[in-house]
Formats: sequence, structure tokens, C-alpha cells
Amino acid sequence: MVSTVPHLSDEASPSPRGYSTPLCRTSPSLPVPLLTPPAKIQLTSYLNETPLSAKCFKLESAPQDPYSIALEPDDVLVQPVYLSMDTNIYMRIDTHSSSSHYRLPAFQPGETANSYGVGYVLASRHPHFAKGDTVLGWTMPWASFGMVPGGRGLINLKAGIQRLPLQWFVGVLGIHAFTAWYGLTQLAHPRRGQTLVVSAAMSGVGQMVVQLAGILGLKVVAIVGSNLKMEKVRENPHVFLAINYYAEYDLSETLHRRLPDGVDIYFDCVGGAGLDGILRVLNTNGRIILGGILSDHALIQRSLPVYHLLQLAEANASILGFRVQDVFQKYYPIFVQDMVKLIHKYNVTYVLDLVCGLENAPKALLGVFQSRNLGKCIVQVSQDDTDPPLSDGRR
Ligand SMILES: NC(=O)c1ccc[n+]([C@@H]2O[C@H](COP(=O)([O-])OP(=O)(O)OC[C@H]3O[C@@H](n4cnc5c(N)ncnc54)[C@H](OP(=O)(O)O)[C@@H]3O)[C@@H](O)[C@H]2O)c1
Repeated sequence: MVSTVPHLSDEASPSPRGYSTPLCRTSPSLPVPLLTPPAKIQLTSYLNETPLSAKCFKLESAPQDPYSIALEPDDVLVQPVYLSMDTNIYMRIDTHSSSSHYRLPAFQPGETANSYGVGYVLASRHPHFAKGDTVLGWTMPWASFGMVPGGRGLINLKAGIQRLPLQWFVGVLGIHAFTAWYGLTQLAHPRRGQTLVVSAAMSGVGQMVVQLAGILGLKVVAIVGSNLKMEKVRENPHVFLAINYYAEYDLSETLHRRLPDGVDIYFDCVGGAGLDGILRVLNTNGRIILGGILSDHALIQRSLPVYHLLQLAEANASILGFRVQDVFQKYYPIFVQDMVKLIHKYNVTYVLDLVCGLENAPKALLGVFQSRNLGKCIVQVSQDDTDPPLSDGRR
């Protein structure tokens, strides 16, 4: 795709550390081996007033032979390799959150759960997909083998991209990294020397915001939910302040006190008290990029109110939300091109919290809402024939 969008990598200076050449891989012989016996995970009931728990899901056995699953015209049979444990699943099982504006449909009780993921096409009656294709999907089934009706939300990773290691598409080239890249480079108008604050700074989105902001020469403040995450995020030399919000009595007050020089960009994944605190210290022409409102999906208590919205007017500042699905078609190829260059020029890494076996998905998802993940939580369902991808062991 041709575009006039400037590439972040064009502004970047070379790094002495580099990645090995991406793997050239041949098509795997399908189906690839599973990590555990064939199974699928179904939603048992909507949440309503009950908190999310592992009981919301049920593990069922699945057919040994994937090819026994019947396909209607346009259906695609896939074998997921990696499934992403995403907080947006909450919105699809909580009837209060599921609104008609939300693109991904709410789950029906009894239906196989699904989320973002990558895997292989086993069989297809869709003209754009064929057996052996590597695909990325917004609704990959939580199953050893599963159907994507009408191929909905599937992207074919043909045309060179599929030469890259599969794990990169839930990591450094996954939608969370893309969310960070898009929000920062296309919406936030970052300028060298400015101060950027990012919440959930070790999440799938947050960790990439930190790294890209560093490459762009911003001064970074990272808000995280544990001392361990604080230590991890401080490894980036551009992070001049890390705050563990669990250790703060009043996060809004802390931000007000500890950021006397103000904030130019807030990349927010959380909402609530952090957002309120940032509004109090936002510099003139400040930008708030609203990636998500995680605190709204709290298991016990919903988001705290935001009191200081008037500051947006006083600071001539803006707050901007976005949904990556809407910009994916246009910007994802540009992102991949840019990011692959950055990976080669810089020590860009991506921390994955890898969980083995489909049956562990409900527990892993719950862990994300309890801040137990360090990095993006991914469940591996099947063998990855492109693993390990890099000569020095990093991903
Ligand atoms: N706009 C878009 O199109 C788009 C696309 C993808 C993702 N997103 C959003 O980006 C954000 C990050 O997603 P992700 O998948 O990268 O996250 P993630 O890797 O799954 O990490 C989630 C982290 O969020 C924090 N957290 C969990 N529950 C929380 C709560 N109730 N209150 C405050 N923090 C909580 C925890 O970190 P701590 O321990 O640090 O608290 C947890 O480790 C989410 O809001 C998501 O909806 C937006």
C-alpha cells in the first residue's frame, strides 16, 4: 500500500543491536500438533451482576478430526496457534457493556468463545482463504479447531508478511503494538523532549507506547500495577518516573504532586483516577489519547469519576478515542513496514506472558483482570513451527 504517512523508522537513528533476518518458512503440514487434547471453551452465562470468574466458561471436548466440522459457503476452518487474552472480552460477556456500537458481537451463552489470535487455515469455502494460509483474526475460536463463519474478521498474512515468525503477530506486530503505534504516531503529534505519561505501561499496548515514545525522544512516565512491573518498565532509559498506583492512596493527587512540569501527552488505557490526575497537570495544547478504559472492567469496583474535564478547555487540550479495527486496513501494512525496520534498528522487544494449553485460557483471562500478567497474556494452543524466531533467543 502506498501512503504519505511518515514512517517512525525514518526519524530513528540506527542501533548497534539488530535482529536476525526474518525466517523464511514453508507451509506447515496441517493440522499442526496440539499442545493438549482437542477441546473448545464455551461461555456458560452472561455476567450481569456476577463478577467474572472461571465459572463463566466451560471446557468441552471437541472432535479429534477437524475435517468432520461441516462448512457452509464462505466459512473458514482454522487452527489457532496463539490466542490473545484481551480485556475487551469483558464487554462481550457483560450485558451492561455490550452495546450496539460495539463492533464485535456479544457472545451467546453456549457459544464457543473467541478473541484476537493467529493460526492456520485448515479448510475454506471462502474465496480469499485457502488451506495452509496463515491468518490473523479478531474472533479466533477458543478451540483446538474451529470455524470462523463467513471468514469474519480474518486477515490473510500472505504476501511476505507470513515469512515472519508467527509469534510476532501477537507481539511486536500484533494489534496491541499496532494500537500503540497508531495512537502515538498518527494521533498524538509527539515532539522530541515532550513529556508522555502512559497507564498500564506493561500491558500489550502500554509496553509498546513506552518504547516508541523513547525512540521519538519523549520523556516517559509509566503507571503500572506492581513493583515488579515498575522494575521492568524502568529498564527503558527514557522512563524517568514509574508509579505503582496500587501503592498510592490517591493517584490523582500523586500525579498532581509529582509532575510539576506538566504533561504533554497522556496515552491512557485505564481511565478513572489516573485520567483525572492527568487532567490537572495537562500542559497547554496537551493531547489525551484514549486507548481504553480498563478500570471500567474492574471485577469488584467500577471506574472512579473524572472531575477535572473543564481543564481540557482551560488548556486548549484534546481527548481523542479510536478503535483500531476501523483503521486496520489502511494503516496496518504501513505499521508492519515501519515496525520491521525499527526492530532491526533498535532493541525493540515485546514481553509476552505465555500460557500453554487451551484449557488454561479462562484462568489466564481472569489473571489479566487481576493484574497478574507481566506483558501481553497469550495462550498457546498448537505447536508453532516458526518458534524460536530469533538467533539471540529474543522475540
Ligand atoms: N482502542 C483500541 O482499538 C484498542 C485496541 C486494543 C486494546 N485497547 C485497549 O488498550 C488497553 C490495554 O489493552 P491490552 O490488551 O494491552 O492490556 P493487557 O496486556 O491485557 O494488560 C492489562 C493490564 O491492565 C491493567 N488492569 C487490569 N485490570 C485493570 C483495572 N480494573 N483497572 C486498572 N488497570 C487494570 C493491568 O496492569 P497493571 O498491573 O499495570 O494495572 C493488566 O495487566 C485496554 O484498555 C484495551 O481495551 C484498545
